Amino acid sequence: MSKNKPMTNYDEYRLNDDKHWEWHTTFIGRLMQHNYRVYHILDGVFKIAPNLGAIVEIGTGCGALTTYLGLWGLHLNIPVLTVDNVRSTDTDAFLQRLGVTVLDGDVFSTEVYRKIKEFVGQRPVFLLCDGGAKQREFDTWARLLVSGSFIAAHDLGHEFSVENISEWTRTLVTPVMEERWNEMNAQIAIFKVN
Ligand SMILES: C[S@@+](CC[C@H](N)C(=O)[O-])C[C@H]1O[C@@H](n2cnc3c(N)ncnc32)[C@H](O)[C@@H]1O
Repeated sequence: MSKNKPMTNYDEYRLNDDKHWEWHTTFIGRLMQHNYRVYHILDGVFKIAPNLGAIVEIGTGCGALTTYLGLWGLHLNIPVLTVDNVRSTDTDAFLQRLGVTVLDGDVFSTEVYRKIKEFVGQRPVFLLCDGGAKQREFDTWARLLVSGSFIAAHDLGHEFSVENISEWTRTLVTPVMEERWNEMNAQIAIFKVN
């Protein structure tokens, strides 16, 4: 790669050295739209969040991260919901066997918004923003989650930045484990809801 040419997203995804881990490998046969370090970092969140009542993922994609979250749901004995506006029958059948509730639709539609809100209820949750508009997802949901919840956004530095969180939302959340957000090119920002 030329020294003068800035790295594209894809160049960064492909990096595999002692500071960056490669993206787009597989987990239980599912294409990962992230890298393995995300699992280790999120394990750290679940360790400091013993009272979670549910897990929500916006953006199922190929379902690798949903599989990981589904396993955490089983481990903690809490329900897991994932939403995407493009669904795959094969992925959904597998996720449902894992006990994950699968929602089909636009996360910003009134109906899906209402269903997620109903699912979340008044319990503290872990919610991951990994759909098509992570910044907007973050601003929308950070305002609705109860204190003690955790909210994370993937693709930090590419599709999500702390600078772009609205002023009001920033007062509602506190960054956690910030030193790990870009560990091995994981690109995950994590906050606790105040
Ligand atoms: C980056 S992928 C998710 C990757 C997945 N979380 C993972 O890491 O394995 C983003 C997904 O968001 C979905 N998406 C985009 N816009 C959406 C919307 N408005 N509502 C629901 N899902 C949406 C896309 O269909 C795509 O599958």
